[in-house]
Amino acid sequence: MNKNKVTASAPGKLMLFGEHSVVYGKPCIVTAVNQRIWVSIQKLDERKLQISAPDVSVLDYKLNLDKAGLGKHIPKGAIFIEYAVRNFKNKFDLPTGIKITTKSDFSSKFGFGSSSATTVATIKALSELFKVRLSLKQLFDLSYETVLQIQGIGSGFDLAAAIWGGTLYFVGGGKKIVPIKTSKIPLIVGYTGIKADTATLVKKVGSFYKTKRKTVRKIFEMIEDIVSSAKIAFLKNDFKNLGELMNLNQGFLDSLGVNTKELSDLIFAARDGGAYGAKLSGAGGGDCMIALTGNRHKATVEHAIKKAGGTILDVKPGADGVKIEL
Ligand code: PMV
Repeated sequence: MNKNKVTASAPGKLMLFGEHSVVYGKPCIVTAVNQRIWVSIQKLDERKLQISAPDVSVLDYKLNLDKAGLGKHIPKGAIFIEYAVRNFKNKFDLPTGIKITTKSDFSSKFGFGSSSATTVATIKALSELFKVRLSLKQLFDLSYETVLQIQGIGSGFDLAAAIWGGTLYFVGGGKKIVPIKTSKIPLIVGYTGIKADTATLVKKVGSFYKTKRKTVRKIFEMIEDIVSSAKIAFLKNDFKNLGELMNLNQGFLDSLGVNTKELSDLIFAARDGGAYGAKLSGAGGGDCMIALTGNRHKATVEHAIKKAGGTILDVKPGADGVKIEL
C-alpha cells in the first residue's frame, strides 16, 4: 500500500556510566527510557516543509522544502527536524512536500535527550514514507551527522539509545554499539530542578583536559575501567557491585568538575537511604541523578531524595528503540 502518512516514535535516554570520557572515544553504558517522542510525517501536494511541534512552541512553521536547513533564523524547536530533512533529502531525494507534527511524552527540561529522539524519529519516518531502506547503523550515521552539524560536539550515545533501545555498551562516535542483556534495572531517578547545559559542561571538561592533559587522561582511563566492570556486572545482574561502581564513577566525575552541591545532596541522601550506589547522570551541573536500590530500600531512598530537595521521576529503563507506529 502506498502510505500518505507515517508516524515513528523514539525513546529518551539516561546515561548510566561513562559520561564525558565517552566524548573522548571511551565507552559508556546508556539505557533508553519509557519517555517517547512521536513524529508524524504526511505528504503534501505543494513542495513545502511544514512543521508543528507544539511542545516546543513551533506552530505551523512553513518554508520551501528546498530551503530546509539553509535559513539563518530557524526556530529553536524546529532546527533538528529541518536539518534532518535537509540531510535526508540531500542523500535520498524527497519527491514531495511534507508536513511534520511532533508530540512528546517528556519535557526537554529533564535532559532525557528530546532533540536526539526527534532527529532519529524524523529520519526513521522519512525512510518509511519514501521507502528508503536504512540499517540501524545508517540511521545512526545520518542522525549523528545531523546532530554534529547543530551541536558541533557529542558522542552520539543518546542517538544510539533512541535507535537500538534497551541498555547499550557504546563507544564514542558509534565505533561499537553492543546491546547488554540485563534483567529489570532497579533504578531510581531524582531530578535536581536545575536545567544543565550539556555544551557548557562538555567545554568545561575540554578546557580542563587542555590544562591537565596527563591527569585527565588517566581519569578517563579509570572511568573506562569502571565501564568495563559495569558491563560484566550487568550481565550477571550484580546490582550491588554496580552500585559500588556508580559511586566510583561519581568520584571521578566530581574530580572532572561537573558535580554540584544539589546533585551531591541527592546522591548522598540516596546512599544514606540504603541505595547500592548513586551518581549523576549525563553532563552534570544539574538535571538528574540516578541510584540503584534493592526493593527493600526503594521507599526509603525515594523519601530521602525528596527530603533532600529532589523530585522522583517515574522513568523506566530498557525501553524499546525507534519504531514505526501502526
Ligand atoms: O547531558 P546529557 O544527558 O545529554 O549527557 C551528556 C553526556 C556527555 O558525555 C557529557 C556528552 C556526550 O555527548 O556524550
